[in-house]
Amino acid sequence: MNQSTTTIVLPTYKEFDSLPSLIEAVEEVKNNTLPKLKLIIVDDNSQDGTEQLIQELDKPWIRLIVRKEDKGLSPAVIAGLKESTSDYCVVMDADGSHPATAIPCMIEALQNGADFVVGSRYIKGGTTEDGWGFLRWLNSKIATMMARPFTRVLDPMSGFLAFRHSTFDQAKNLNPIGYKIGLELIVKCDCKKVTEVPIHFSTRQLGESKLTLSVQWQYLQHIIRLLRYTRPAFVSFFSFATVGATGLGVYVLASMATTPLIKPFWLANIIAILIAMTWNFLWDRRFAFWYAQNKPIFFQYFGFVLICSVGAIPNAFITNWLAQSEAVPLAALSGGIIGATIGIIFNFLMNRLVVFRKQN
Ligand code: GDD
Ligand code: MN
Repeated sequence: MNQSTTTIVLPTYKEFDSLPSLIEAVEEVKNNTLPKLKLIIVDDNSQDGTEQLIQELDKPWIRLIVRKEDKGLSPAVIAGLKESTSDYCVVMDADGSHPATAIPCMIEALQNGADFVVGSRYIKGGTTEDGWGFLRWLNSKIATMMARPFTRVLDPMSGFLAFRHSTFDQAKNLNPIGYKIGLELIVKCDCKKVTEVPIHFSTRQLGESKLTLSVQWQYLQHIIRLLRYTRPAFVSFFSFATVGATGLGVYVLASMATTPLIKPFWLANIIAILIAMTWNFLWDRRFAFWYAQNKPIFFQYFGFVLICSVGAIPNAFITNWLAQSEAVPLAALSGGIIGATIGIIFNFLMNRLVVFRKQN
């Protein structure tokens, strides 16, 4: 018998049909291995009889929380975790996909030094019940690949998790939007030692999945948020360079429009440059310097235009100088490339350090 205190947090939405067999399976684990096991069911006001069911069962180790606001899987899980006072926390699905029999192994892994344990389909010994259509399989594979930059875990999409309550308390800036609370916790609790316990993932028998298209869109936003959190400078520069490349296209198009209409040529060219700069500014503000979006746009715009104009001078100078040099083969081209690279680094650094400065 394992004397540690453990709370299972079970998010539910319309799982009335699946709950009885799940509770039975959990009770078996409680009777056989984890006598101090508790269950917190966090229901998002399903109105499907769940409340009566738990009331009638009348088991002191089961608690039901019904939430009426802020619906969603991750907020429900976080609400349950905040209520738990045990040493260990387990999060699992209510639809029977996750075998309760794996819970003792997961707790044991924590006691043996793991920071975070994932019930995993993809580690050796883990399996997925047949009957996943090609689309769900492909979906899961792509989503798993997108989580690669954050963790080496083979099944980062799993919703079957175990960790110490103290690990959860360490979480910084938890953002409970979306479905992938496991991935969010691994990153935000800064878990170093993540262990995977193989499970057999069963197909849900009753009720229906809540994984909709909007959930997948949220996942994409979640990945971007995590990238911004873990690699802010990289995301900032990558976005800046990408926007810069599109700005070049905008400049070409704008010149084609202004040159025949406006004379003299230099005026038409300045207007085309301003159009491209404005384009870059709007996208950069949103994607490269997202953290400064709440600052006054007026000053940012003038700072941006000023820096880009100053950056254009060394750029033009280097390009010109190399273009005239006879010694360098393909001088005009290499001049353009070197000049543009120096220009973009100068613009980026000045904008990041001055105009869109990070304030704590
Ligand atoms: N409280 C609450 N509120 N619970 C919810 C909500 C909600 O808005 N949406 C879903 N749940 C509960 C369900 O009742 C179920 O217990 C669990 O969250 C998982 O929901 P499913 O609808 O069964 O999701 P799934 O099977 O598509 O996704 C599961 O498997 C994925 C791996 O393929 C989840 O475990 C995912 O986290 C996992 O990535
Ligand atoms: Mn499911």
